[in-house]
Amino acid sequence: MRSHYCGQVGESLLDREVVLCGWVHRRRDHGGVIFLDLRDREGLVQVVFDPDAPESFAAAERVRSEYVLRVHGRVRRRPTGTENPTLPTGRVEVLGADLEILNAADTPPFPLDDEAVSEEARLRHRYVDLRRAPMLERLRLRSRVTRVLRGFLDGHGFLDTETPILTRATPEGARDYLVPSRTHPGSFFALPQSPQLFKQLLMIAGLDRYYQIARCFRDEDLRADRQPEFTQIDIEASFLEEDDLLGLIEAMIRELFAEVLDVRLPDPFPRMGYDEALARFGTDRPDLRIPLELTELTELMQGVEFKVFAGPANDPKGRVAALRVPGGATLSRKEIDDHTVFVGRLGAKGLAYIKVNDRAAGREGLQSPILKFLPDPVIEQILARTGADSGDLVFFGADRATVVNEALGALRVRLGRDRGLVEPGWRPVWVVDFPMFGWDEHARRWTALHHPFTAPRSADPQALADDPGGARSRAYDLVLNGTEIGGGSTRIHRAEMQAAVFRLLGISEEEARDKFGFLLDALRYGCPPHGGIAFGLDRLVMLMSGADSIREVIAFPKTQTAACPLTRAPAPVSDAQLRELGLRVRHPTTEGA
Ligand code: AMO
Ligand code: AMP
Repeated sequence: MRSHYCGQVGESLLDREVVLCGWVHRRRDHGGVIFLDLRDREGLVQVVFDPDAPESFAAAERVRSEYVLRVHGRVRRRPTGTENPTLPTGRVEVLGADLEILNAADTPPFPLDDEAVSEEARLRHRYVDLRRAPMLERLRLRSRVTRVLRGFLDGHGFLDTETPILTRATPEGARDYLVPSRTHPGSFFALPQSPQLFKQLLMIAGLDRYYQIARCFRDEDLRADRQPEFTQIDIEASFLEEDDLLGLIEAMIRELFAEVLDVRLPDPFPRMGYDEALARFGTDRPDLRIPLELTELTELMQGVEFKVFAGPANDPKGRVAALRVPGGATLSRKEIDDHTVFVGRLGAKGLAYIKVNDRAAGREGLQSPILKFLPDPVIEQILARTGADSGDLVFFGADRATVVNEALGALRVRLGRDRGLVEPGWRPVWVVDFPMFGWDEHARRWTALHHPFTAPRSADPQALADDPGGARSRAYDLVLNGTEIGGGSTRIHRAEMQAAVFRLLGISEEEARDKFGFLLDALRYGCPPHGGIAFGLDRLVMLMSGADSIREVIAFPKTQTAACPLTRAPAPVSDAQLRELGLRVRHPTTEGA
């Protein structure tokens, strides 16, 4: 239907006849001449209609925003002084000879250039929202990202293999989405939280190298970087040493950034132990662009009288740490209160601080509500260890280590952003040496920190059982600018070890057989050493495009309450459908009434 995309019309086409198709972006009536900005995927071009061609002029008078047109015309240079330097096509225009209205359009639900539209409205009319240039640009970037990744993986012998969507629960730790079976009344499929078990079975099958751009489903609390349905670049390989696999994965990410963004990432990526990450940054996904670090003060505070610090310092699960804010002495009372409320939401009971007005003046040069509780040598140690200088401020966290880490870790990021300290660029880091298990205080049992198929560092099941809390796993996360973009591990490839891990997790032999019997069986039929990783494609594209939510890089995402305003899914179904599935809906609102 067309000879060129609107966005491709440039000086190389001067005096040529073109046929363009697209949407009316804007229509302007300039005393006898009508200007239409015609838009398609590739951009905008100005089309001019004058009364010399009465038929097309009359048609041009009728068109409105978002009408779909086909236009014949001749490309000409814009008159001097009327060029638009902000448009790639801005030196030329098309003199319209013929205009065909392919479809009229109702007034759009919101103007395309309005940036203040509610997300609800954008999602309800997503097909209009996606017409905006930045949205199209992000989908284009996403497509480039998957093309480069596929190219790399194909080139390295990975076979693209699909795995089932209708399957059994996989233990990634979130709630499952269930699908009732009509042919097996009372039974349910679970949608996969990831292809984890299938990719391991493919290794046992001898595929050697697998990848898949796989959809995963997790019914969990949503945030800016979490969707109930998201996409992984899922990878698994056999007979590869852990370092070789990580090297290959790094090479893939380096190639991706070089090809798509023309960015050189470091070679190799730095690695950091889990303990070091928590000690220095309070989190296992540190944003290394922010030059602030926590300072350990736990043992220093063991002897002080100040209970707020001494309590946690003497508790084996406690921690006292400081965060120096360069130039922070200028923070106002209100700003400090605001940060205190922020960490309070994360469980911190307070946010003590010391302002260093004059480092040389000793106690006199400091300003703080807790000064009176601390002896001189302790104050001196705090200043020395944090490196605080005149003009700085030091914040303190004292609580259970988990609370201190979460509060000061988040405060570090917040201060980094607020105070413009975030350095530009890309800072990947592997986080390694995770604990194998975490203790769930509430359920009073061990849980897998990664997933139950991750191998421990020790190959001895008995050693693992003797000290589950001290065991380290062979898991690794790739963190980029403070976002976990991928996670994986070397897997357990022996049935005895797998059974031992299930036991430690409190999964009975019976339950293990029932849920994962197929895996335990498969492990006995010749399982190669193997391992892999999965990247969150949405998160990767979010970072690469500079978007602040993965919803901005998914064509049709769900809202924060896991619904789709466009199709209005999820939706009730008819009684007939329910009967067929052997289901009855209990309405919580009328239940017991
Ligand atoms: P994991 O659960 O760490 O590992 O997931 C891998 C990566 O997927 C992304 N991700 C998400 N992205 C958007 N929305 C979500 N709800 C969401 N949940 C996770 C993250 C994360 O790093 N089977 C293992 C991988 C393996 O061991 O090979 C797994 O799924 O970027
Ligand atoms: P208080 O003795 O409760 O008045 O607290 C004195 C100072 O210590 C205040 O600035 C509080 O914000 C701060 N504070 C109290 N509890 C904690 C805590 N657990 N961690 C860090 N600072 C705290």
